[in-house]
Amino acid sequence: MIRHTEELVLVTGATGLVGRPLVDLLLAQGVRVRAVSRRPEEAGLPDKVDVVAPGAGMFEGVGRVFLNPRAVGLEAAEFLAEARRAGAARVVAMSALNVDHPLEQQPSRQRGDFNKESEQAAVASGLDWCALRSGYYAVNTVSQWGAQIRAGDVVRSPFPEAAWAPLHERDLAEVAARALLGDELLGRRPVLTGPRALTQQEMIEAIGTAAGRPLRYQAVPAEAAEQGLVRQGFSEGAARGFIAMQGLSYLQPGLVSPEVEEILGRPGLGFEQWAAEHAADFDRAIPAHAVRDPRGPKR
Ligand SMILES: NC(=O)c1ccc[n+]([C@@H]2O[C@H](COP(=O)([O-])OP(=O)(O)OC[C@H]3O[C@@H](n4cnc5c(N)ncnc54)[C@H](OP(=O)(O)O)[C@@H]3O)[C@@H](O)[C@H]2O)c1
Repeated sequence: MIRHTEELVLVTGATGLVGRPLVDLLLAQGVRVRAVSRRPEEAGLPDKVDVVAPGAGMFEGVGRVFLNPRAVGLEAAEFLAEARRAGAARVVAMSALNVDHPLEQQPSRQRGDFNKESEQAAVASGLDWCALRSGYYAVNTVSQWGAQIRAGDVVRSPFPEAAWAPLHERDLAEVAARALLGDELLGRRPVLTGPRALTQQEMIEAIGTAAGRPLRYQAVPAEAAEQGLVRQGFSEGAARGFIAMQGLSYLQPGLVSPEVEEILGRPGLGFEQWAAEHAADFDRAIPAHAVRDPRGPKR
């Protein structure tokens, strides 16, 4: 039997929000990692990592695969079939809490995240599989509110009482590493959230505490918030879907799942800690063009 640390793990989306901490965790456990990036020369991953562009050769010698739906689009089934032909035995797929909701209530589909199809492809792949059904990432607050907070102390957003439990990306990466290396999560779809639901107002207060200045929440109509996101680069469909999703959590507070704590054997990391670690992303002294992109180096 091959020890897991001797198997090569292929990480798609390796330069992403979860991919980077996952690569670090795997390396720390002595695992050999091949990372996929469309721009390997700009990936900025540790030297030990074999960074490759997407292509047929990437599967050679791979035993386990981390599947990021954003990185594979609608090709997850072919991707996994090819991985299996090359000898892979396991896939851990990122998925989402809302994967069984009506497709029009899944705004991430507008940007090409086919979480449902990816999860189905993993289950049907013939590989050992695990699908990580995660909720809202804490780091989304940077793309959602970062520009406003860097520019001033007022955050305009609808639904101040809408609440959900932001998931620290490091917790998600740690669960992914467990699913890749251990056997206890095989055949499961764990639901992953942060440890506590916070209203938007509470999240903004926590960011203000971390940033060292009080922030003020100003409720605005949903249409104004949508337009603000479009000005920041969201597509109209994604902005509408994202705000509509927040509207739904206004009526029904976000789920708090116990599974991160059950899997990791410790409570999930709280949003206050996340905000303290990311205070620099909201620093008004930093000009917008110089802000470190939490998704990695600038493209
Ligand atoms: N954000 C959330 O709250 C949340 C919650 C639940 C589920 N999810 C799901 O998690 C998945 C990952 O989302 P994320 O925000 O974490 O992604 P991400 O980390 O920003 O993106 C992952 C990586 O995929 C690659 N990539 C991006 N766009 C691509 C494209 N069009 N074609 C090929 N590769 C592309 C990029 O790597 P290179 O540029 O190096 O190629 C990027 O670093 C998505 O399916 C999302 O729906 C997200």
